[in-house]
Amino acid sequence: MHRLPTLLSGIFLVFLTSWIGLVAYPALQMGRLTPVTNADLGTTFPPVYGGEAVAGQRVYASEGCVYCHSQQVRQTSFTRSDIARGWGVRPSVARDYLRDSTAFLGSRRLGQDLSNVGQRLSDASWHYRHLYAPASVSEGSIMPSYANLFTVHKIEGQRSVDALELDGDFAPKAGYEVVPTADAKNLVAYLLSLRHDYPLPEAGSVTNAPATPAN
Ligand code: HEC
Repeated sequence: MHRLPTLLSGIFLVFLTSWIGLVAYPALQMGRLTPVTNADLGTTFPPVYGGEAVAGQRVYASEGCVYCHSQQVRQTSFTRSDIARGWGVRPSVARDYLRDSTAFLGSRRLGQDLSNVGQRLSDASWHYRHLYAPASVSEGSIMPSYANLFTVHKIEGQRSVDALELDGDFAPKAGYEVVPTADAKNLVAYLLSLRHDYPLPEAGSVTNAPATPAN
């Protein structure tokens, strides 16, 4: 038992090193990050999310989008390939996530990275059609349909202003229309607000990446 003090100091050292590496150092490095404000231009980055986008972030979490999509345009040696793919115009940095209650960094990329999707796909009606029937706008898509975020109902009098424009196999039967629920609207507001394209001092310069995504 005379080795007990050595054993205990060893265990203590292991915990201390992990705490320094996993808690103290990251807190020192990133704990004091604040948004960047330019008083002359009247800008603050990252921008504050609107109310719908905040609600949409919760839909994004509950629908499990993070299982197939990352939200981080990779740094340094990886950067060129993510930017070349058209997923971003600059690498994502820690400050980009200051407004996120949860940072959906993700670990799998069955679909594209979405950190800058609001810039490269800025048409809300595209997103609605894509969520309802992915293959209707992206041929051969393997993304699951999120039809649960829409209601299909009989057209009574006037067609709803936000009814989806769907063709062929994807169109509802005659006399019916597909309308987004509040969750769908919030989710799309969130997707459109996803933009890592504003300037930040540590993010390097913004490149002229292709506006259309490459799969
Ligand atoms: C099972 C995997 C999977 C899940 C879960 C998933 N996606 Fe996708 N997503 C894909 C794939 C694959 C693509 C590429 C094909 C396509 O465009 O449909 C894609 C494409 C996209 C695109 C187009 C991106 C671009 O740059 O063209 C958006 C936007 C998107 N998904 C949003 C979502 C949202 C929002 C959710 C959750 C409601 C979600 N996805 C859930 C697999 C998935």
